[in-house]
Amino acid sequence: MKAADLPTPCALVDLDVVERNTARMAERAAALGVRLRPHVKTHKCLEAARLQVRGMRGPITVSTLAEARFFADEGFDDITYAVAVAPSRLPDIRDLVKRVDRLNLLVDHPGTIDRLEDDARHHGVLYRVFLEVDCGYHRAGVDPMSSDALELANRLASSKRLELQGILTHAGHAYASRNADEIRRVAAQERDVTIGFAQRLRDAGISVSEVSVGSTPTMCLAEDLTGVTEMRPGNYVFFDAFQAAIGSCAVDDVAFSIAAEVIGQYPAQNRLLVNAGALAFSKDPGACHLDASCGYGIVQSLDGRASYPDLRLFSLSQEHGQITSDRPIAWSELPIGTKLRILPNHSCLAAACFDCYEVLRGDQVVDRWHPVRGW
Ligand SMILES: Cc1ncc(COP(=O)(O)O)c(C=O)c1O
Repeated sequence: MKAADLPTPCALVDLDVVERNTARMAERAAALGVRLRPHVKTHKCLEAARLQVRGMRGPITVSTLAEARFFADEGFDDITYAVAVAPSRLPDIRDLVKRVDRLNLLVDHPGTIDRLEDDARHHGVLYRVFLEVDCGYHRAGVDPMSSDALELANRLASSKRLELQGILTHAGHAYASRNADEIRRVAAQERDVTIGFAQRLRDAGISVSEVSVGSTPTMCLAEDLTGVTEMRPGNYVFFDAFQAAIGSCAVDDVAFSIAAEVIGQYPAQNRLLVNAGALAFSKDPGACHLDASCGYGIVQSLDGRASYPDLRLFSLSQEHGQITSDRPIAWSELPIGTKLRILPNHSCLAAACFDCYEVLRGDQVVDRWHPVRGW
C-alpha cells in the first residue's frame, strides 16, 4: 500500500529517518563516553525501542508502569521508571521488581522513602533508587545545594532496604532555549550541576556510582559529559516541529507526522479545514517563545517533498484543524480531498493520540507499529 491510499487522519512514521536518528544518538553516546539509556515514552512501541538499544534487552527509561510491564513482557530487563513513585502503585512496582533484573526508581522526598522502606520490609524486597536532583528545570528533584539533599542521600546510603544507585536529572528547561548555543549552555549546566552534586555527596562519604542526565535538546548538542555515566534522551527518535524550531534538529530529521485531508475551503475567510484536530495533534502550543503565531505544526505535501511555509494550522477543535495563510490560499492546488503531511509541535503528545502508526519507507507503507497505552 502507498501512503496516499491510507485513510486519514493517521499517524505516519518515516522509518529511514527513525533509523538515522537512533543511529546518530547511539554514536553520540559512544563518542561522549556514556551509556545510552534511551527513553521510550515518545513512541511506546517495541520496534522503535529495539532500534534505540540496537537489539539489546535494555537499558531503557520509561514514563509509565504500563510501559515498564510491556517492555518487561518483551524481555527488556534493565528499566528506569523515571517518574517519582506514587504509593498507590507499590503493588505494580513490587511485581515488576521480581520480573526484571533491574528496575530503578526515583525518589526526592522523605515521605516516598518512608513508603518504599515500609513496603520493602513488609514484602522482603530490595528497591534500587536514584536520588532525583533539580538542575534548573524546577519540576522535580532535590535542590543540589540544600542540606535536605545531603540528608536524603545519607538516609538512602544507610538504608537496608533501598539501594542507592546514584543521582539523576532531566534538563527540561532546555526547551526554553532559542537556538543551539543556548541549548549547549543548558547541557553544560545540566552536567556541571549534576557532577557537582555527585562530588558533594562523595565528599560526605556517600558512594555515587551512576550520574544520569538527559533531554533530547541537551543530548543532541552536549559537547562534554565528563563525570556523567549515562544519558536518557527520548524524543530524538521522532523529533518534532518544536525541536526543529529551537535547533535540536533539522526539519528533515522529523520522523513523525500526521496525514490529514482537506475537508473544507472558505475563500471569504482565506481558510482551509482539515480532518485532524486536537485529538490528533494535542494542543501543545509549540515554540511560541520564538514565534507567537507558529500554530500547531509544519504543513507539507503528503510525500514530505514540498513544504507550505505560508500555511499555518492556527486553530484546533476536537476533530477539526483550521489552516490560514498571510497570502491568498491557492485553492486549486488544495482541493477537497488533498492529503497533507503535518509535523506536530510535540511528537510525544501527538503520537499518544493514535492506536497505531503507519510505518513508511519512502511512499510505501511497510509496517504498522502498536504502542502501549495507559498507566
Ligand atoms: C526524567 C526524564 N528523563 C528523560 C526524558 C527525555 O527527555 P526528552 O523528551 O527531551 O527526550 C524525560 C522527558 O520528559 C524525562 O522526564
